[in-house]
Amino acid sequence: MRRSVITGTGSYLPERVLTNQELATFVDTSDEWIRTRTGIRQRHVAAENEMTSDLATRAARRALDAARLSPVDIDTVLVATTTPDYTFPATACVVQDKLGVPAGAMAFDLQAVCSGFIYGLTVADSLIRAGQARHVLLIGAETLTRLLDWEDRATCVLFGDGAGAVVLQAAEGAGTVADRGVLHTVSRADGRHRDLLHTDGGPSSTGTVGKLRMQGREVFRHAVTNIADAMREVMEAAGVSADDIDLFVPHQANVRILEATAKKLGIPAERIMLTIAEHGNTSAASIPLALDTAVREGRAKPGDLLLLEAMGGGFTWGAALLRL
Ligand code: UT7
Repeated sequence: MRRSVITGTGSYLPERVLTNQELATFVDTSDEWIRTRTGIRQRHVAAENEMTSDLATRAARRALDAARLSPVDIDTVLVATTTPDYTFPATACVVQDKLGVPAGAMAFDLQAVCSGFIYGLTVADSLIRAGQARHVLLIGAETLTRLLDWEDRATCVLFGDGAGAVVLQAAEGAGTVADRGVLHTVSRADGRHRDLLHTDGGPSSTGTVGKLRMQGREVFRHAVTNIADAMREVMEAAGVSADDIDLFVPHQANVRILEATAKKLGIPAERIMLTIAEHGNTSAASIPLALDTAVREGRAKPGDLLLLEAMGGGFTWGAALLRL
């Protein structure tokens, strides 16, 4: 059975760090409120001339190095982002050019907000299993601070900029959970709740980019239920239990959501990969950022079974089970 195996990971965070303390000098908030409600200590902010494609390209280079591949080996560039450089062309095409991925490769963006990396895994794995791709560069990259209303303390303290990338390669497996690669994914949406987390603008509505708006408490409530359901679904489909999971690598939105979800499923706290303190909610970039950190710190090793999840605007949500 054909499998999509992660052979390299990489990530990049912009140089500029904005701590909670510094944020509290111009927003009516406090380090204590942000830390206790969310687990965030700081976020990174892209430089004025730094675009999503720049962050994505840096993360992708590191993932390619880790996979011992060169850009000419890549046949598909998939960028999950809500903050593209331009309305068009796709950021993936900009990244293709900046990296030197050959003309003729497939390159496109995927818009599923914070769930973009899970949706991207579903799409990349489907392309590989259908024989349409062999070496996919899947990147989650965001300059989300550009969508923030710095007057809205309920949202501006939560988000940051960053990028994470993985290389997925086609390989043959036995068709069991012992295989390396993506074992099962679910990607779901419910557009009825789109107003609970959205931007108040866009190319076809206002002709502007808009600012991020969120009803946090409502999103929180839906997040715990939806994420837990998706995680249960992938584990059941693959025939594994919470005890089999070596590391839980979630979307880094709020430490309280992650702990509540892990508790619901019986995953002990020491098996949760947490990087939110360092970079806040980086939307589609947060899972590959956490995954790359886990790999580089030796917390995720080849052969480990990983459970990933995300929830975001749309609503969109999903989960993925994979063996490194
Ligand atoms: O990645 C996409 C998915 N997004 C999420 O998963 C986010 C889900 N939601 C959350 O993480 C939480 O709802 C938040 C962290 C956004 C908010 O936490 P909360 O415990 O739900 O707080 P709240 O919105 O109910 O606000 C509690 C209080 C309010 O004051 P009163 O009405 O109790 O006096 C707010 O005005 O906290 C106040 N508040 C703040 N205070 C200091 C809201 N934002 C701030 C702030 N600093 N930044």
